[in-house]
Amino acid sequence: MRLFIFTVAILLLSSCNADKKTEKSIDNNPAERPELSRDSKIFFGNRLFSEKTCITCHAVNKKKIGPSVVDIMHVYKENDADIVAFLKGNSEPIVDTTASQVAIMQDNIDGFLKNITDEELDAIATYMLYVDELTAK
Ligand code: HEC
Repeated sequence: MRLFIFTVAILLLSSCNADKKTEKSIDNNPAERPELSRDSKIFFGNRLFSEKTCITCHAVNKKKIGPSVVDIMHVYKENDADIVAFLKGNSEPIVDTTASQVAIMQDNIDGFLKNITDEELDAIATYMLYVDELTAK
């Protein structure tokens, strides 16, 4: 009987561990997850837009400290430019090139966006495009 209980306990323990392992490996390997749907990206991007404090400087369609999302998207679409590249620090600003304004945004790229993943940046860019589409209707 004791051996039986022991065996069951071991089995239970190892199945718990197995669960944890799969969860962990999924977390650590975003590349192995299927790509998020557009709706999920918009939802996730919306959350990131407040969590990463973008919302404090960028309103939907009026200027705050930074240009509005609609103004940003207008310039990006016109120039066929890439928001993700800009947020990664790989392309120059094209919306407001005043040095003091550029410096404010650069602080975010170096700070809040330092450890952001490509998936998160893609979600933010998808959300910004969606907000722009909504206001155009
Ligand atoms: C402290 C204020 C502030 C915060 C927070 C902030 N921004 Fe900005 N952002 C600015 C200012 C000012 C500009 C105008 C300078 C410029 O265009 O680079 C700007 C410009 C931009 C641009 C246009 C860049 C270009 O090509 O000119 C994008 C895109 C952008 N911000 C996205 C974001 C996102 C996404 C976040 C959140 C992760 C964020 N910003 C957070 C102030 C801020």
